[in-house]
Amino acid sequence: MNRILTALQPSGILHIGNLFGAIEPMVGLQSDENENLLFAVDYHAITVPQKPAELRRNILFAAATYLSVGIDPAKTILFQQSRVSEHTELAWVLNCISHMGELERMTQFKDKSQGKDLSVSVGLFAYPILMAADILLYDTNIVPVGADQKQHVELARDLAERFNNRFGETFVVPVPQIRKEGARIMSLDDPEKKMSKSAESEKSYISIMDDEATVMKKIKSAMTDSKSTIEYDEKRKGLANLLTIYSLVTGKHVNQVVSEYEGKGYGDFKVGLAGAVSAYLSPLQEKIKGYLESEDALIKILDEGAQRAQVIASKKMELVRKKIGVQL
Ligand code: ADP
Ligand code: TRP
Repeated sequence: MNRILTALQPSGILHIGNLFGAIEPMVGLQSDENENLLFAVDYHAITVPQKPAELRRNILFAAATYLSVGIDPAKTILFQQSRVSEHTELAWVLNCISHMGELERMTQFKDKSQGKDLSVSVGLFAYPILMAADILLYDTNIVPVGADQKQHVELARDLAERFNNRFGETFVVPVPQIRKEGARIMSLDDPEKKMSKSAESEKSYISIMDDEATVMKKIKSAMTDSKSTIEYDEKRKGLANLLTIYSLVTGKHVNQVVSEYEGKGYGDFKVGLAGAVSAYLSPLQEKIKGYLESEDALIKILDEGAQRAQVIASKKMELVRKKIGVQL
């Protein structure tokens, strides 16, 4: 049996990069042979300032989205990170075996702290350690993430090995699983950058709640190039990204999409893509709204998930306390 685990920050509206890079792969990995865990990392979210009411809404929205995409709480332990206090407890222990130098090298920290000098939070710096705790608490074998998170999973591997060497066999060393297609959906207004919800311009990403008109507007203004043919060429980054999105929302191979647009130009292609994206998103949006209408039911699912997660996490934490010598 493999234990597969991933998590997402409930830090705002999700975009299609999150959907295809992180949530959908978890749906595909649900099977009787795996034990899956998926959670909203609310304590990661507060590494940057959050408005409490908004954070609460985002947590519920994240849960509603996972369920709508096809996460089945009977097959996947679905919960909220802050409800299982062992995450922060283990993070503290791991803080004490982590090196400043290895955290300073993390590209996400470098990106997110850029221009913020010393006012950047300690939490943002220590963020990958909490993520390592998330993973190691559950004897996780496989961590499906987008390409940008690989470095963090590697830190979790290093910390697991370091702890095991120092205190004896305790943690399973996890392996990142990077999805190739959709692993890195690029920004619409700058195909050199990944699509990100923390981007300055709303035009750079497609939110999973965007309506038809918004999707059309964003795709029409997506950056492409001055060539006129629709073909897959990695050097034509903007178009390659749009073709990838087309393929993901329709389930068609990129080559098939290319052949459908033979002899046509960007105008037709963009209209077709916008239609395909909306056709994919609108049933999903209906489901999400449905879940959000019954908040109590949603909270109950998350509570049950937290209880199941805690059974595993508390055993691991007991072992950790014994290993480091604080358990009398
Ligand atoms: P964001 O950069 O939008 O804030 P997060 O860092 O919260 O996104 O990422 C949440 C999950 O979605 C992670 O597993 C991450 O790898 C994945 N992800 C984020 N952006 C993309 C993207 N552009 N393409 C594919 N996957 C992505
Ligand atoms: N850091 C991840 C991100 O921003 C989210 C995350 C937190 C995570 N804990 C995790 C992902 C554990 C996988 C496993 O996307």
